[in-house]
Amino acid sequence: MNIRPVRVEDLPGMQACNLQNLPENYTMRYYLYHAMTWPSLSYVAEDHKGRIVGYILAKMDEDGGEDAEPHGHVTSISILRSYRRLGLAKKLMVQSQEAMATIYRASFVSLHVRKSNRAALGLYRDTLGFTVQDIEKKYYADGEDAYAMRLSLKP
Ligand code: ACO
Repeated sequence: MNIRPVRVEDLPGMQACNLQNLPENYTMRYYLYHAMTWPSLSYVAEDHKGRIVGYILAKMDEDGGEDAEPHGHVTSISILRSYRRLGLAKKLMVQSQEAMATIYRASFVSLHVRKSNRAALGLYRDTLGFTVQDIEKKYYADGEDAYAMRLSLKP
């Protein structure tokens, strides 16, 4: 299994992976926006035949005005079912976080996750050390609450 920065030709494979794994889906334009604006923050995991089996789609957060601390944000991450528990998501997160810190001087990384998403919470909280910053009520389209989570990237 190989992990590498995203290329434009990977975007349909990324989108297919997202559609299989998550109810939060995005337009091709939104994938392209990430890949063109922050090319070092999004990565794919590919099998030996070059098929996309997982991805992380990430960006720098532009909310909060000029005074806000620069920070990264994970828009979406997923791994195809038969490739889970191999450490791929952890590797994708770490690669993206390193680029956020070194290239963009991000002081922290943020994300949203469903309260019921045990696997993702295990990854973020237990493996990577994220903490819950806030609960955003009815954040998702089906009414589920989100944990807004953060991890400091300061050395
Ligand atoms: N239950 C509990 N803990 C888990 C689970 C699970 N099913 N899966 C992973 N973890 C935790 C464990 O601590 C694991 O370490 P360990 O295997 O040494 O015990 C650690 O996370 C790292 O696991 P990885 O193998 O790196 O995770 P994986 O590659 O399987 O991907 C992911 C995890 C992305 C959550 C996967 O289950 C998935 O694609 N789920 C569906 C999509 C999804 O929920 N994406 C996240 C939405 S939130 C967002 O995108 C910002």
